[in-house]
Amino acid sequence: MIKDIILKNRSYRRFYQDITIDLDTLRQLVDLARLSPSARNSQPLKYILSCTTQKNSLIFPHLAWAGYLKQWDGPCEGEKPSAYIIILLDTEISQSSGCDHGIAAQSILLGANEKGLGGCIIASVNRENLREVLNIPMQYEILLVLAIGKPKETIQIETVGPDGDIKYWRDAEGTHHVPKRILDDIIINL
Ligand SMILES: Cc1cc2nc3c(=O)[nH]c(=O)nc-3n(C[C@H](O)[C@H](O)[C@H](O)COP(=O)(O)O)c2cc1C
Repeated sequence: MIKDIILKNRSYRRFYQDITIDLDTLRQLVDLARLSPSARNSQPLKYILSCTTQKNSLIFPHLAWAGYLKQWDGPCEGEKPSAYIIILLDTEISQSSGCDHGIAAQSILLGANEKGLGGCIIASVNRENLREVLNIPMQYEILLVLAIGKPKETIQIETVGPDGDIKYWRDAEGTHHVPKRILDDIIINL
């Protein structure tokens, strides 16, 4: 079961934009992050939720998509995410987020998958501009943006070949291919 959902939980970057996601759904997803592990249990993460056309349009321009797909500028109108969860560090609680935000992101995206949704972790964010358009106080450091929606693309896992190339690619039919290293290449026998 867990493997099925992890296999399904790919990084989706094209969505059925007309399928809306309500605030309660986003709150349920953040609740999964709330219950996730936190170093020293300090729980320094805070979240901004967005699921309206107006707020989404403020966030989208400050995100960079799929760096390896040089010919693609990111999702076009009609295929943009329906919602976002912005993960912040509250620096009044802690100066470091450790790896809490990665764990939180995974919890949220696994939960989204269970609900028939999908998303993408975005770290390539123009943080300065995003802070300005959303009026985010300096107390909060912008860590990650999670783009969420109803996936509109097929993603296939591949095996990293002998050349070691890990770059994902998209084929003529639009299927996105993601090479993963094989198990024996990531377990070190000492
Ligand atoms: C910390 C982190 C930051 C990422 N940042 C971006 C990003 O800025 N833009 C993007 O399109 N994808 C981003 N991704 C998605 C990765 O490209 C994706 O996880 C990788 O290609 C493997 O695909 P998979 O998630 O389907 O296994 C990020 C993923 C992680 C874990």
